[in-house]
Amino acid sequence: MDDSVSWEVRCYPDRSILTRRAAEEIAHRMRRAIALKGRCAVALAGGHTPRPVYHRLAEEHGHRLPWDRIHLFWGDERYVPPDDPQSNYGMVRQTLLDRISLPEENVHPMPTHISPPEEAARAYEQTLRSFFGDAGPTFDLVLLGVGADGHTASLFPGSPALRERARWVVVTEAPVEPRRRLSLTLPAINAADQVMFLVSGEEKRPVMRALLDEPQRARTLYPAAMVRPRGSVAWFVDRAALAEPEDSLR
Ligand code: 6PG
Repeated sequence: MDDSVSWEVRCYPDRSILTRRAAEEIAHRMRRAIALKGRCAVALAGGHTPRPVYHRLAEEHGHRLPWDRIHLFWGDERYVPPDDPQSNYGMVRQTLLDRISLPEENVHPMPTHISPPEEAARAYEQTLRSFFGDAGPTFDLVLLGVGADGHTASLFPGSPALRERARWVVVTEAPVEPRRRLSLTLPAINAADQVMFLVSGEEKRPVMRALLDEPQRARTLYPAAMVRPRGSVAWFVDRAALAEPEDSLR
């Protein structure tokens, strides 16, 4: 494990407690970034696990956060219209954006209206360069999930995108619909200060055990294991995703 990156695993009894604690921690890290830098830039995860976290962030913390100092980006997006039920932007709009007073200019969705998808990826990279400068997309916080196959964002095992060292945003191919995706690359994710993984469910257990018990081997197999940001990685996991096999017999 890269000992220059601080690692912690926080395991919670169930998804509901994981959701509550993750929302608290995201709010805390947003406040800390604003106190240090005057603003906070967060890349959001898609999928199902973050959905209740965003809702809780809005309901429990939304009225206390200085949203005018917060900028929201996406770590990946399905290449579908924003009103498509599978859109990560649409999910965040429904669970968070429609419930808080975030200025529209602080919302930076991946532009899936731009065709072809390669042009959309280039446009988003330009959005990031305009915001962060050319040194790198130094997000204060990147939220990520982990698939049962060890993917993260829309970086899938064996994908050529895993070898990308220059570009910050690429088009990738998912093994499930919607297949065409836009994703931050590993260099873009690893330019971040902090990463928080949100992981729930028994189907993630084999990958989580490999990630934590055999990190070197996991790094050759699973994109989630290749994430090593500049500062820290925090794993917010429920017991279902982490329990040792014998634990589940108790
Ligand atoms: C997506 C996500 C993806 C997700 C994992 C875990 O667009 O689907 O970016 O990487 O985080 O697939 O998804 P769940 O949280 O639904 O298990």
